[in-house]
Amino acid sequence: MRKIHLITFGCQMNKLDSELAAEALAGAGHALVASEAEADLVLFNTCSVRDRAERRVLSRLAQLRPRREAEPGFRLGLMGCFAERDGARLLERLPYLDFAVGTRQFARLPEIVARLDYGRERIGFFGGRAEAEGDPGIGPASPRKRHSGLHGFVSVMRGCDNRCSYCIVPETRGGEVSRPPLEVAAEARALVLAGAREITLLGQNIDAYRKGSGFGLADLLRLIDREISGDAGLLRLRFVTSHPRDITRELAAAVREFPRAARHFHMPAQSGSDGVLARMRRGYDLAAYRERLAMLREEVPGAAVASDFIVGFPGETEADFLATLDLVERSGFQNSFIFKYSPRPGTPAARDFADDVPEEEKRRRNRVLLAAQDRVNRERGAGLIGTRLTVLAEGPSPRDPDRWIGRTDGNLICVFPPPVQGSDRAGSLLELEVLSASSLTLFCRLAPGGAAKP
Ligand code: 5AD
Ligand code: SF4
Repeated sequence: MRKIHLITFGCQMNKLDSELAAEALAGAGHALVASEAEADLVLFNTCSVRDRAERRVLSRLAQLRPRREAEPGFRLGLMGCFAERDGARLLERLPYLDFAVGTRQFARLPEIVARLDYGRERIGFFGGRAEAEGDPGIGPASPRKRHSGLHGFVSVMRGCDNRCSYCIVPETRGGEVSRPPLEVAAEARALVLAGAREITLLGQNIDAYRKGSGFGLADLLRLIDREISGDAGLLRLRFVTSHPRDITRELAAAVREFPRAARHFHMPAQSGSDGVLARMRRGYDLAAYRERLAMLREEVPGAAVASDFIVGFPGETEADFLATLDLVERSGFQNSFIFKYSPRPGTPAARDFADDVPEEEKRRRNRVLLAAQDRVNRERGAGLIGTRLTVLAEGPSPRDPDRWIGRTDGNLICVFPPPVQGSDRAGSLLELEVLSASSLTLFCRLAPGGAAKP
């Protein structure tokens, strides 16, 4: 049996895949270990979304090469998006890599790891179609035994049928496959029974859940509400990521009606310029994005909306960038995740357009946009001083064990003195009063008389 150290890069779907892989490997009798030094197999769950993510894995692998060559029995493997995109070539090129398994084949990990003990074959499994039944990433779902902590993640669909011109995901994760609603609800319920208080439903393009079937994401939220409402425990339900074209008023209304749905949306705009949006093939223009944003805020008062932006997309002029800046300054986003454009091999943008915005200019636009979002955050924080907020208490802060942290349903981070009753309050809702605020953190105290909510 092996001692396996699993290192995860990339998005929440990758983190979930790592949990599922760890569960499958532990089920086959292997030990998951916390340090690389103890391990006799280091497995990287990789990301391809930007070039930097891939280069980081390659350099970590190269660092482990001497150990791989010196230590009999020590093995190296890759899973995830980079393995899917480039695994076959990497197996040819890197003699110290033992296996690579793609995003829809990692159910085979126990079999692959068992085979490592025999002979010197190098193993690769790629492609395939996600399973519709069970977790699509891993095949038929086992009853989940994984201990989830406060935050549980459930994939409801995988893959993406959009063709945003910059994006590698359709290639690395394939087309959209949705899971059956009852199975999603059962898994969410199992996680809540195992201790989860907040469930996040995951999908690369989650608003397209069972598109055209007459039972969409809004229905799924209602189903989960009904299935889990009898169990004390679920306090919050979130879902990510929303595409501005697919998100509906009906979904927003479901969020408003369902008391445990977090009033929080992640709806990436990517750019504020119509020309850039068209070249990105996003399927909406600025006016349509603004209209969707207004719709969310109308249906869900106080909704927090987070966005992603890419700066330095091919042909992005100063005027295009200023349009994006204006969108950030005027939209009151809960947060903006900002990325510098990175051409991905095989994507339409990499094929059709030169990467013509200089790196230095990408960096400057990144900085300017970050600073704008920072001003938005500070203004919001200042406006919240003196108000009361409800947070899901997570327990001691990893940075300062003398203070606790919690999150609002809009995903704002609050820091506060530990509640007197101690650790049993972790995982419950607390009422806080905001005393001061920085860009990313609200500093709070327990609100007078604001004990844990039922
Ligand atoms: N270059 C830079 N950023 C990208 N993203 C996706 N593809 C690229 C790329 N080629 C960003 C998008 C997406 C987020 C997950 O990563 O903003 O929403
Ligand atoms: Fe996640 Fe996309 Fe990175 Fe794959 S390429 S790990 S789907 S962010």
